[in-house]
Amino acid sequence: MRKKIVAGNWKMNNDLAETEMFFTELKKQVIPEHVVVMIAPSFTNLNQAFNSLKDFPVEIVAQNMHQCDKGAFTGEVSAKMLISVGTTTVILGHSERRELFHETNALLAEKVKTALENDMDIIFCIGEQEEDRKEDKYFDLIEKQLTEGLFHILEGSWKHVVVAYEPVWAIGTGETASPEQVQEMHHFIRKTIAKKYNDAIANDVSILYGGSVKPDNAVEIFGQDDVDGGLIGGASLKVESFMKIVNSFEN
Ligand code: 13P
Repeated sequence: MRKKIVAGNWKMNNDLAETEMFFTELKKQVIPEHVVVMIAPSFTNLNQAFNSLKDFPVEIVAQNMHQCDKGAFTGEVSAKMLISVGTTTVILGHSERRELFHETNALLAEKVKTALENDMDIIFCIGEQEEDRKEDKYFDLIEKQLTEGLFHILEGSWKHVVVAYEPVWAIGTGETASPEQVQEMHHFIRKTIAKKYNDAIANDVSILYGGSVKPDNAVEIFGQDDVDGGLIGGASLKVESFMKIVNSFEN
């Protein structure tokens, strides 16, 4: 079922003490029942975050994982390791992983397969660069990312998948895509899923927007028909701004 979701992606921010401080403050807040709230801290703080939020309605999510179950992969973390510290959802395909760590659609397809084999849920990120938009190639690019990275999954696996559209030019830049640009792309993503699978799956999948979402633009972005929430970077690092975004949905 399509859910309203606000997920905070902390990237490489917040050490253990900062993580604990954030959650102490977060636990004083009321999480609206109609919104699924998630936070993705760094690997080192997942277990602490999970324990600290045990009886609180916020899910702890990982920012990445390796595609293999185990082995000689220095510095990597497996699905089973994530599950062992209470994390059953993983962000895959973030543009920073694609760009800075050279993750390709083919590699991401493998990671998706491994996550699903381990019964994990996935937030699968896609998004175009500024040149792709300027050169009018952005729809093709998004279709390619979906086709090569995600469209190998079986119909039954879609209940484990959330799609996050994050145009690279809007990430951390303060330059948000306009509500019209967001709606246009989210509608295209849904149509592309419907074409490959069917209308029921396309209408059921939650599609999040990410890229400079702030308390002052969240209401308008979340108000678009095909937008089911946001993947939030900078504004998720402070409880106050994060909660304002969480509270930006109409009931
Ligand atoms: P900002 O909200 O800082 O632009 O980051 C978005 C993002 O990359 C979330 O994954």
